[in-house]
Amino acid sequence: MGIRNTQMAMEILNALMEIPWVRQRSSIFSHAKILIVFLTSFKNVVAVCAISRFFNVLAIYVEKEYRRRGVGRRILDKAIEEARKQDLNFISLSVYAKNLPALQLYSKLGFRKILNLEQLPYYVMILPLTHRGEIICNFLSTTLSKTPPAFLFFAAKFIEKVLVGRLL
Ligand SMILES: CC(C)(COP(=O)(O)OP(=O)(O)OC[C@H]1O[C@@H](n2cnc3c(N)ncnc32)[C@H](O)[C@@H]1OP(=O)(O)O)[C@@H](O)C(=O)NCCC(=O)NCCS
Repeated sequence: MGIRNTQMAMEILNALMEIPWVRQRSSIFSHAKILIVFLTSFKNVVAVCAISRFFNVLAIYVEKEYRRRGVGRRILDKAIEEARKQDLNFISLSVYAKNLPALQLYSKLGFRKILNLEQLPYYVMILPLTHRGEIICNFLSTTLSKTPPAFLFFAAKFIEKVLVGRLL
């Protein structure tokens, strides 16, 4: 449901911030342009997916006891649908190379790796949503593949610190 009531929105945001994983990424969740929350009838958070104001960075979290039941896929589908409605050109994210559940989920929904460096333990991925998004994604892939790895390493660290706050 859409949240029109400010007090309810504040309550949900407070509940989200009680989840350590979400709190560590508060820059994405508290300034999200898209925020999809899956609640129980008692208003406990089951899952949340956010897309940030800067560079449309996506973060998704499903509570442990609800994983592997299709909740992540549903909430991510919903966030993508909303992003299309808002005419976003792309969605971006970074994901640890060891995070196989997330990597599988993103690949299934069409996210593409645009940065894959041996020196970095994570991938940067983009899902293009429009023709312009495709152009941006192809441009970034081509440019990044031609950029010296040492420069990319520092650029990635800079982006991670300044824009994302920390890794997803
Ligand atoms: C990643 C995460 C959101 C997946 O949520 P989920 O509700 O368990 O995912 P779903 O049940 O919808 O599964 C969708 C697909 O993801 C992949 N997947 C999910 N869990 C997996 C696992 N443990 N191992 C391998 N693949 C997995 C599968 O491809 C699955 O499709 P399938 O069920 O047809 O095989 C969840 O594990 C999570 O919250 N992890 C902690 C936070 C996190 O790492 N977020 C991503 C940060 S980049």
